[in-house]
Amino acid sequence: PITAVILCGGSGTRLWPLSRKSFPKQFVPLIGGKSLLQLTLDRVSGLGQRVMVVAAESHRFMVADNMQGLSCPAQTILEPTGRNTAAAMALAALLAEQQGQADGLMLFCPADHHIPDAAAFGDTVKQGVAAAEGGAIVTFGISPSFPSTAYGYIQQGPKRPDGALAVQSFIEKPQADRAQALLLQGDVLWNAGIFLCRASVLLQALEAHAPDILSACRAALPASAIAAAEHAPQSTQDQHWLRPLAEPFNACRSESIDYAVLEHHANIAVVPYFGAWSDVGSWNAVAELSPADSDGNRLEGQAVSLGASNTFVHAPHRPVVALGTKDLLIIDTPDAVLVAHRDSAEMVKEVVARLEKQD
Ligand code: GDD
Ligand code: MG
Repeated sequence: PITAVILCGGSGTRLWPLSRKSFPKQFVPLIGGKSLLQLTLDRVSGLGQRVMVVAAESHRFMVADNMQGLSCPAQTILEPTGRNTAAAMALAALLAEQQGQADGLMLFCPADHHIPDAAAFGDTVKQGVAAAEGGAIVTFGISPSFPSTAYGYIQQGPKRPDGALAVQSFIEKPQADRAQALLLQGDVLWNAGIFLCRASVLLQALEAHAPDILSACRAALPASAIAAAEHAPQSTQDQHWLRPLAEPFNACRSESIDYAVLEHHANIAVVPYFGAWSDVGSWNAVAELSPADSDGNRLEGQAVSLGASNTFVHAPHRPVVALGTKDLLIIDTPDAVLVAHRDSAEMVKEVVARLEKQD
């Protein structure tokens, strides 16, 4: 049995003004009226026998809304503050351990990725099961298409007896020149950010490479906290909410699993994924989700264009008109508008930081 763990704590600032701190991109209805979190839940609920969602306390109601109608048992761990993915994954593995399922497989999935072919994805996950049962941390690899500095890189090795590929090394978010060099080598994959392993394997790896993170999370999730959640008076919405203790958890180091564990761990395997995958990391990536007309324009909602090319317009609330524009991203929301050159999409993050300072 696989427990699917959805990592749902990101703030998605590169999709401002649609994605806000209080309403991050995983909750935004982006595709066919569904949020990326809902689509992720749909995708994994067929695979996993149960689901754990790890999310921020402040997002609990949005998480609960998105989980409505889920077809398998689910629990939500609510973090008092974000401490990045190493801590979030540790909490889920510790909960499994406390529930007597330390040997069970866990599939850790980001809440904010778009993987349209759920069946192909499921088949790929299954190809990693033997390696994970044998004690590896299994990663999933995407064929790289450009020297991105936003991804982890996996140098793949020969096929292992368990059917997965060996991993020679894992390099998280290399600088541009290193990324370029890795691509030229030809035997590299991007890390999809999805991991399959036994709960006990993750806990042992944390013990070896980041013992401080593991002990902070252990202190935050004592058996008494889990029992308290199970025996708390339950409303329909909060029946599966589990709250780690704030004091020890807030004291935990904030580090991603990639830096904390994957760059250092020996027994990592990779299974390539050949289907479409996007981490919907920028407005250019969101634009890709809409069909293009013959001039490369992608128009959503009430958008209208004339003489435009390679222009993306997101206009759910009112008509937005683009005349003769070229290579633009135009995002209309009720209280803020973004107009950006397509080459400047990555700068949105910096602007958000600046706007926050002005508040
Ligand atoms: N619960 C929880 N708490 N979730 C978190 C936290 C946290 O503190 N921080 C991040 N997450 C969630 C995000 O919402 C996202 O779904 C996932 O964990 C990954 O975090 P990101 O912050 O989006 O990571 P990244 O995109 O920079 O890098 C990772 O993903 C890439 C692929 O998209 C790495 O694994 C890279 O190696 C990988 O290539
Ligand atoms: Mg990401």
